Amino acid sequence: MPVPPDAKPKVLILGGTAEATALAEQLVARGDVAVVTSLAGRTTNPVLPPGEVRIGGFGGAAGLAAYIRENGITRIIDATHPFARRISENAIQAAAETGITLEHLVRPGWERQRGDRWREVSSLAEAAEMLPAGATVFLALGRQYLDAFAARSDCRFVIRMVEAPEKPLPFADHVLILGKPSADPAREAELFAAHGVTHLVCRNSGGASGYGKIAAARQMGLPVIILGR
Ligand SMILES: NC(=O)c1ccc[n+]([C@@H]2O[C@H](COP(=O)([O-])OP(=O)(O)OC[C@H]3O[C@@H](n4cnc5c(N)ncnc54)[C@H](OP(=O)(O)O)[C@@H]3O)[C@@H](O)[C@H]2O)c1
Repeated sequence: MPVPPDAKPKVLILGGTAEATALAEQLVARGDVAVVTSLAGRTTNPVLPPGEVRIGGFGGAAGLAAYIRENGITRIIDATHPFARRISENAIQAAAETGITLEHLVRPGWERQRGDRWREVSSLAEAAEMLPAGATVFLALGRQYLDAFAARSDCRFVIRMVEAPEKPLPFADHVLILGKPSADPAREAELFAAHGVTHLVCRNSGGASGYGKIAAARQMGLPVIILGR
């Protein structure tokens, strides 16, 4: 699409995170750029950032490059979740193909604190192997990451999800809790205690909103099996 000479530069934020929403708020308030935030469309009622919002996949790197050209995008800011790797790779390819600037807003990971009983792993398969038989495990992972634990029929799993899964979960013995993580360690500790959780499995996602569980595990002396970046 030809861009009128007096049009504001148009920034595409790849979003789906609190940081992406905060960035859209900042840029819209500044007023010197047009802002489009893109969401993958994983949740039914997402919190919409200010500015324009588009929802759904682009169709790979080629689809993203086509979107950039057709919509006169002049800059992309990748503010997606640190474990959302495919979209970040697509952004690198599409930016190279279209010759526009790409910035990556990377949320720093959490740092181990005194009292943390972390065991860092590099894969979920490794995390699954590490669990002792008879453990009650809080799996703080999205639906697409649960299959790695399906063979551990000697453990009980406590799983929290924002929305009910479309297919039954792959575990014989499990409890499903619908809701969002709390940033408040006391609330997370209450939940762990109510379900007799003995181990926490999570990714080192960073950020304040998911840190409640990490602080709760520290307070309770629970081992945390944590997937590194
Ligand atoms: N992974 C997590 O734990 C997590 C946690 C919180 C939020 N999120 C957010 O949820 C989204 C999906 O995460 P994921 O782990 O499934 O990502 P992913 O594996 O990197 O992406 C899979 C596909 O989803 C589409 N997609 C992802 N993010 C998109 C975006 N912002 N706008 C448009 N399409 C997008 C792309 O489809 P096409 O190839 O068709 O373009 C991409 O190839 C991300 O935007 C991320 O920021 C993820």
